Amino acid sequence: MTKITAAISAVGKYVPEYVLTNKELETYVETNDEWITSRTGIKERRILKGEGLGTSYMAIKASEDLIKKSNLNPKEIDLVIVATATPDLMVASTAVYVATEIGATNAFAYDLQAACSSFLYAMSTASSYIESGRYKKVLVIGADKMSSIIDYTDRATCIIFGDGAGAALFEANTEGLGLQDEYLRSDGIGREFLKIAAGGSILPPSLETVKNGQHFVRQEGKTVFKYAVSNMAAVSEKMLERNNLTEKDIQWLVAHQANKRIIEATAKRVGVHSDKVMMNIHKYGNTTSATLPLLLADYEKELKKGDNLIFAAFGGGFTWGAAYLKWAYNS
Ligand code: UT7
Repeated sequence: MTKITAAISAVGKYVPEYVLTNKELETYVETNDEWITSRTGIKERRILKGEGLGTSYMAIKASEDLIKKSNLNPKEIDLVIVATATPDLMVASTAVYVATEIGATNAFAYDLQAACSSFLYAMSTASSYIESGRYKKVLVIGADKMSSIIDYTDRATCIIFGDGAGAALFEANTEGLGLQDEYLRSDGIGREFLKIAAGGSILPPSLETVKNGQHFVRQEGKTVFKYAVSNMAAVSEKMLERNNLTEKDIQWLVAHQANKRIIEATAKRVGVHSDKVMMNIHKYGNTTSATLPLLLADYEKELKKGDNLIFAAFGGGFTWGAAYLKWAYNS
């Protein structure tokens, strides 16, 4: 029997129009363009403006872009997963609303939350359904409206994050293309270093929590940085070793865009040259669940059938991992 693998057959993207520059941030907090650029690689990020617009707005737009480009009939989609840390609502899945709005009326849908690793974990979920033969077309959308949980008086977080969405369609492949291997990890030690303290079941929202700004995301940047550098590099290296790959076999490193220095450290550890490292952090910042699919959409034209891609991500929780995927089409 022919082995079924799960391949990405189409991608789409959406970023909001509003550009938040380092210069504008200088008017909010004690910071400067030079510091932000040298410490993070970020020059600007996109922000979703407009009352009543949440993460679903961007997820729908990214999906519509994918549907239009690939001529996909949304009725053929079996499952929609929205990977996000900023759902529209605490209860009532964002993915369900997105599926209905894009016309995926034969699909079921749910959200997947693993902070900045959400999309990587969702790739695993989508691929497992497809490899098992249970479903044929799974749409995975990574989308986050980070501006909804940012305190724009906190320079430790406001300079980093941006809004955006990317989408990828996973389908069965019989040529051996698509997901080859993955190594996914998590460690609850990370809970204290990157979190939103209030609004969940431990500390429900109250006037007090809002007054204290506990509904905003906070991070101990230095600690998260150290864990991110060592763990992302280690799992990426493992992907190469376990699959008998050398850096010459790798066409692209698709790493979570949290900090240019973290991405460069990962690339160095696996020996991949900088021109093989996908990078868009300078224009979007850290869009959490959206960074990986946004990279795929931005680099789609340069990707060739059979290219070997190493994915790597690290996020709050902690959550992290790497995956090895063979690209399945020329665009
Ligand atoms: O997405 C997944 C998870 N997130 C991450 O992976 C993010 C990981 N962390 C980072 O990317 C970095 O830690 C940051 C970009 C957040 C911070 O960079 P850093 O090199 O770790 O800076 P730092 O926090 O050690 O601060 C260095 C100095 C400090 O001054 P002193 O104590 O040396 O005088 C800070 O007070 O820079 C100061 N500083 C700033 N200066 C200007 C901190 N934030 C800023 C700022 N502008 N925005």
